[in-house]
Amino acid sequence: MGGGRQLGRPASHVIGWVRRQRRWPYAVAAALLLTALLIPAATRSTRPAEAGGPRPWFDASIPVESRIAKLLARMSLGEKVQLLYGVEPPVGSGPAGYVPGIPRLGVPSLVLSDGPVGLRDSLRAATRRPATALPATVSLAASFDPALANAYGQTLGREARARGVHVLYGPAMNIVRVPVGGRNFEYFSEDPYLTGALATSYIHGVQSQQVATQIKHYGLNSQEIDRHTASSKVDERTMREIYLPPWQTAVQQGNAWSVMCGNNPVNGVYACENRKLLADLLETEWGFDGVVGSDYAATHSAVGSVQAGLDQSFSWQDWGAFYRDLPQLVRDGTVSETTIDARVRRVLRLMFRIGLFVPARELPVIDRAVHGALARRTAQEGTVLLRNDAKLLPLKAVGSIAVVGPYATKAHPGGGGSSSVVPFRTVSPVQGIAARAGEGVTVTSHDGTDIAEAAAKARAADVAVVVVGDSAREGTDRADMDLPGRQDALISAIAAVNPKTVVVLQTGAPVTMPWLAEVPTLVETWYPGQEGGTALAAVLFGDADPSGRLPVTFPTEAAQSPSMGAPRYPAGPNGYDYTEGLDVGYRGFDNRGLTPLFPFGHGLSYTTFRYSGLTLTPVASSGVRRNVRVAFTVANTGSRTGVAVPQIYVGFPHVAEEPPRQLKAFDRLTLAPGAARTVTLTLSQHAFEYWADGGWRTAPGDYLISVGASSRDLPLARAVVLR
Ligand code: BGC
Repeated sequence: MGGGRQLGRPASHVIGWVRRQRRWPYAVAAALLLTALLIPAATRSTRPAEAGGPRPWFDASIPVESRIAKLLARMSLGEKVQLLYGVEPPVGSGPAGYVPGIPRLGVPSLVLSDGPVGLRDSLRAATRRPATALPATVSLAASFDPALANAYGQTLGREARARGVHVLYGPAMNIVRVPVGGRNFEYFSEDPYLTGALATSYIHGVQSQQVATQIKHYGLNSQEIDRHTASSKVDERTMREIYLPPWQTAVQQGNAWSVMCGNNPVNGVYACENRKLLADLLETEWGFDGVVGSDYAATHSAVGSVQAGLDQSFSWQDWGAFYRDLPQLVRDGTVSETTIDARVRRVLRLMFRIGLFVPARELPVIDRAVHGALARRTAQEGTVLLRNDAKLLPLKAVGSIAVVGPYATKAHPGGGGSSSVVPFRTVSPVQGIAARAGEGVTVTSHDGTDIAEAAAKARAADVAVVVVGDSAREGTDRADMDLPGRQDALISAIAAVNPKTVVVLQTGAPVTMPWLAEVPTLVETWYPGQEGGTALAAVLFGDADPSGRLPVTFPTEAAQSPSMGAPRYPAGPNGYDYTEGLDVGYRGFDNRGLTPLFPFGHGLSYTTFRYSGLTLTPVASSGVRRNVRVAFTVANTGSRTGVAVPQIYVGFPHVAEEPPRQLKAFDRLTLAPGAARTVTLTLSQHAFEYWADGGWRTAPGDYLISVGASSRDLPLARAVVLR
């Protein structure tokens, strides 16, 4: 809008100059020429002389909603509906989603593309350009670092913009419900607070580049088997407390400009025609005024979807399926044109938000080095040191290292499916380790296919690093939690011949560890992106503290998770029945007294920390004394600089019938040896609310606030009484 006032200025300056010159007609000609040069094409197009009439929607001095109204008023029904579904993209390109523009009115085409962990600008391998392959979302979540999530989003946004992409399909942010979920690596966490906090920063980062995020897959799409058919059956309280909060946060605090509804039905109604999810919650309760787009082939009706709140429909199996019928449905009175207008208005608003009606969008240039450095930093921050019993790490005075295993010699940037990226470059673990180790250290490698050969290399080296992993992908879940192939046997064989064995997991989610008793040193790097090898070496050699913490519980086996077992998972005849209720992830393990392999929030540092001095101070908020200020001190008691990730959990009074504790705040701080810092965080009233009788309530009673390094390592605890 400010731009419009600026645009008005040259014209009046020109007229003043013309008057002063008093030399008509030269002055007029010069003035017109100057005006033409100074006023961008878009503003000139508001003039009546413009073919097809004036285009006031390009006039930046008019409020956006009026510009939308003026544009909408000039569109035919056919043109309106054209903006509501994707079609086959033009030959030579191949973004996932393409909505053709309306040249008659100057409405540009809309380009929508994957994905959440790096740009995948074409569905067709032949036209896909490389991009920065960032570590998987679960790795970002393990950082517990909102500032990093913002930088991650900015990186994605810049690459999307450089490639002409307007809407980025991401972040993927479903709750990790079952440990075998095929897309768990694309999601953040089993915890709604952590998911919402990091997704919000990610969204701010992407959208700061004038690229819309499309948060996906709203709302309960936590498993992949039968994702197009199996319903998620869930009670209201569980939905409100576990599955919906990340979306509400992403919409209200993240200001996400678009939302992708998932493939599966929720409580028997497909997400993309689910009035409760779309019209009632998203639009009415949360005030969302952006665009809802369908996942691919997630639309199952025209009337049901358009009336429930689906704005744009996409399906590459049959472009325009259902929505191409809308003009006829309006003409025969089944759907009102007002409904169509409401949907189109949202699409136009999105176009204004990403600056499509501003002339000369400047495309950034991708700085590969800067983006690669961000990929490396994310991988480092997300690396979780699960175990370091023999204090083997960080490596010191090593003469030789054998790097073995299926992911030792090849990089493992990401998982499969729509989130996969063609990386600009890759660094494998052996490359990263050899580069960091330098000339004085002998580095050997083996891909582990022949276990005896790999073991021989490991035996001959001072230290063995075994890099194992899995490769999950969308469209299916993992059959079990085991490492594929003979990797368990490989680990045991290596550990048997070299007591200084480091096992490095490159998995998207937890795996069973039958060899755990034999392995004192264990690191989880997730799918670490294109710079994974460099990041791994930095952590192994102690250049970076392993500062990741588990955003998901690692069960001993899949069956230990309270979400497992038919009809919870696998599905029963009526779909996935979420009868575990609130007992998702660590909530369930705590509630049922189960001991996982590694608990939620766990992750070691190369230094040690002491937590002390917890104080709780109720503070007034709008006259209600229900916010609570939490303060405590973290001290680095070791001899190295390290990263502490203090976590704050709230335990509710018994009457609320909540699981024992819930993450409600966290921080991340780097402390030098001997340094101490007081952390102060405020828990809002909502941290003490639970869903009952159709609304959020605070049960009067004692709330136990616990603070510490993981959900099972909480040295500080105090109660606060709320009435
Ligand atoms: C996936 C989405 C993705 C879309 C477009 C679907 O199969 O579920 O996450 O954004 O394809 O590639």
